[in-house]
Amino acid sequence: MSELVPTKPVDILAQSLLRLPQLVKIHQPNNKIFVENLKIFREALNAMWADMSEIALRAHRGRLYLNQQKLSPGPTMVITVAKLLELLDARGFFGFRFSRKEDLTDEDIVQFIRKVNQCQSQPEPAQWLEKELAESWAKPIVDQDFKIAFVFSPSADGKATGRPLVWNSGTRTLAVKARKSYSRALATVTGLQDRLMEGENVNISKSRRVVQDMVESLFQEERLLLNLSTIRDYDDYTCTHCVNVAILSMCLGRRLGLSKIAVVTLGLAGLFHDLGKVDVPIDLIRKTTKFTAEEYEIVKNHSLYSVCRILQINADHKLKAKLVVAPFEHHLGIDLAGYPVSDRHVPLSLFGRIVAIADHYDALTSSRSYRPVPMNPEQALDIMTSISGRALDPLLLKVFINMVGIYPIGTLLVLDTKEIAIVAETPPNAIDARPMAYLLNKDSDFIIKGEMINISDTDENGNFLRNILRCFHPADFGLNAADILL
Ligand SMILES: [Fe+2]
Ligand SMILES: [Fe+2]
Repeated sequence: MSELVPTKPVDILAQSLLRLPQLVKIHQPNNKIFVENLKIFREALNAMWADMSEIALRAHRGRLYLNQQKLSPGPTMVITVAKLLELLDARGFFGFRFSRKEDLTDEDIVQFIRKVNQCQSQPEPAQWLEKELAESWAKPIVDQDFKIAFVFSPSADGKATGRPLVWNSGTRTLAVKARKSYSRALATVTGLQDRLMEGENVNISKSRRVVQDMVESLFQEERLLLNLSTIRDYDDYTCTHCVNVAILSMCLGRRLGLSKIAVVTLGLAGLFHDLGKVDVPIDLIRKTTKFTAEEYEIVKNHSLYSVCRILQINADHKLKAKLVVAPFEHHLGIDLAGYPVSDRHVPLSLFGRIVAIADHYDALTSSRSYRPVPMNPEQALDIMTSISGRALDPLLLKVFINMVGIYPIGTLLVLDTKEIAIVAETPPNAIDARPMAYLLNKDSDFIIKGEMINISDTDENGNFLRNILRCFHPADFGLNAADILL
């Protein structure tokens, strides 16, 4: 894949904030490359200042925000954003605020960038930088208090309310850790695919570290990682799909009592299951209409291509032998009637059966180019149940449904009391049990997270106080469940 160049001013801004601190160290201020990069940075700022007098680029719970709006990094930006978050984290502040400055000069920018570098060697970088830049057009963001604005636009019947949502921020260390592992995993897959396409040597160590990290989170608190996979909020489908399949597979593996080492191997197999898609023409991957018979034949090759790509990775042979099995089998079905077609009679491996379930679930509940509105979990699990025994292993599917629940965390519920709620907790080990949820209340111009309700509460006659009429994927309402719940 040739290097993708960001075009949006905010993306250019983020990239410059990473690049300029490096360039200022190695170039004189009049160096051609350096001057060119200063110009790019200034033009991005000017373009944004045309719409807003102040630009606040802020990290919050492992995501990047422009003023109050969350940025969804596309494939070009995933790595840049992850690195920028690391840069901010290392210096102990949350971002930068740029106030509109007419006639911004190269010297102004150079001064700012130099201070950003110098703060690194200070005992308290954030406080030092805040003081140094107190009068500057560019300042670090050091206050933790942050409110995110959401646009809440129920569109089931086409009536968008367009009301903003405001939640107070709160710090949750474990959730932040899980989110970091998630975005690191995402950046790793993106980088891996890019390097494979460039024909470069790829080592397994980074992917293994990322998966080990996720396994640690998983063994500490399953729900956080599981939530991140079911409450998906990253835009790049192919990479999020790989990370989600890895997480869902690892969670299922853990439920089945696999050892930590086995869960790591399973996670890697999940992460690499669609690696062969880099060898399928990009037009087919992005196609929004149905495949022709010939096109489908080409797409079907991706499981074999995945095997070839995994074999090219620099890793121990024994490990690679274990890793290729699930990617090879993930579209084969337990009846062996899927693809790649062969006359094999050996039953599917355990990892193959697990990854197939995770793969189906994530594909059905994600928005895809050909299906912009994702299925809600209930519909997805219905479809999966209908192919249980043929494509999917019935017993494992039961455990999986038990794990994600009919109403996974983040599902929006429309109740017979005309209330809307968002699932916050599902009772463990009860497939059809009623979940706990937060009510979403209207409050003048805002819709706010209300009290937690238990949908299994009954009145004195034993009748349920509330019943679920319908459930929606939060994306149907333009909502991002992760921001509300994590
Ligand atoms: Fe696949
Ligand atoms: Fe897949």
